[in-house]
Amino acid sequence: MKIIEIEGQKELTGTIRVSGAKNATVALIPAAILTDETATICNVPEITDTDALCDILEELNVTTKRASESIIIDPTDMVNKEISEEHSRKLRASYYFMGALLGKYKRAEMHFPGGCSIGARPIDLHLKGFEALGAKVTNDKNKYIVEAEELKGANIYLDFASVGATINIMLAAVKATGTTIIDNAAKEPEIVNIATFLNNMGARITGAGTSTIKIKGVEELHSCFHEVIPDRIEAGSYIIMGALCGKKLKIDNIIPEHLDSLISKLEEMGVELNIGRDYMEVSKPEKYNATNIKTAVYPGFPTDLQQPFTVLLTQSEGKSKVLETIWENRFMHVPYLNNLGADITVKNQTATIIGPRQLKGRTVVATDLRAGAAMVAAGLAAKGKTTITNVEHILRGYEQIVEKLNNVGAKLTLKEI
Ligand code: EPZ
Repeated sequence: MKIIEIEGQKELTGTIRVSGAKNATVALIPAAILTDETATICNVPEITDTDALCDILEELNVTTKRASESIIIDPTDMVNKEISEEHSRKLRASYYFMGALLGKYKRAEMHFPGGCSIGARPIDLHLKGFEALGAKVTNDKNKYIVEAEELKGANIYLDFASVGATINIMLAAVKATGTTIIDNAAKEPEIVNIATFLNNMGARITGAGTSTIKIKGVEELHSCFHEVIPDRIEAGSYIIMGALCGKKLKIDNIIPEHLDSLISKLEEMGVELNIGRDYMEVSKPEKYNATNIKTAVYPGFPTDLQQPFTVLLTQSEGKSKVLETIWENRFMHVPYLNNLGADITVKNQTATIIGPRQLKGRTVVATDLRAGAAMVAAGLAAKGKTTITNVEHILRGYEQIVEKLNNVGAKLTLKEI
């Protein structure tokens, strides 16, 4: 197991460069197999989720070449076969191979995906979408076979604006005959990035970034070059750390518009921000005002920043509330924050935080990816030494987190025990 030790209360100053977005990359890599030619994707983060997807490509006999921050994917000799349970379960995003293989071969065989245990995480909306396009889904325990004689464009209404279902249906529909319309589609910036990639390959998708996406099926897709957008959640995590311990900490290579809801909340709390075209400077204020947040689909407050943001609320004066509306099990960080000295109670998907409370270093667990980022934020703010266990969760989504933070004055040590 890997652990991170943090000596807290160091001032963070200097520049952190944000990497390519994990949640775009993990869909772009499976999407690349839709062409028979090579696709080059740059600004790819070096995280273990990227490695896990490359293992699946290898299983399908797809060649990958990785150079600094880019990946060339060559599916010339690809074979369509079952994706093993081991590989399917390594991460959530393995499920994008369902849409991509179905779109390309009209058949996908894989197992229920893995990922953070932040809720039941059903895939019914993905499967309903595939069925609407004409596919038949066979499910035996954890194994799924999705196949179609022909994929035909359809009108699909999503009961919930699911990120995964929107992307998976786009992947399955790009080569279908006729036109597919996804209504109540998710609007996250990652969806726009994936639609742009597919359009660069010759797809005909319009409306990505709005709640109605239209996909006119095409026969062939061709090679292309594409850049992953900056990771708004990684950026937001470091901005929150800067609000806790920063002195003019610069978070560089960001798209500030993707962070509007976080910016509003930070300003409400009295955090000083200097926002540039593609960067933000953040400093710790004298005191923080209490506030309330409610997680929501984009452009609402992102659930993926809820856990690190809760750490900031432990430092604000008075009572703050956090309502989690997306995932039913995303408060696993709370007992560990309380261990460090926070005063948080959770009832009915709402955390009530009384602050300010001085956090004191102890041993805590990264129960999932963003809970792990919350533990790092807490460790940076806490007095003394914090030890975080199970940091494999953090390394799935934060490229070089230890190096990036140490470069701006933090004191983190990554150890294998
Ligand atoms: C994506 O997960 C992200 N993961 C998550 O990021 C993020 O928390 C989430 O979107 C919401 O923004 C990736 O992009 C790989 P959803 P996804 O489908 O696609 C329900 C992180 O920390 N739902 O939008 O799985 C579901 O249970 C991660 O980086 C169904 O009921 O999320 C949830 O309540 C974790 N049936 C809600 O919709 C379905 O078929 C949102 O899920 C699909 C989803």
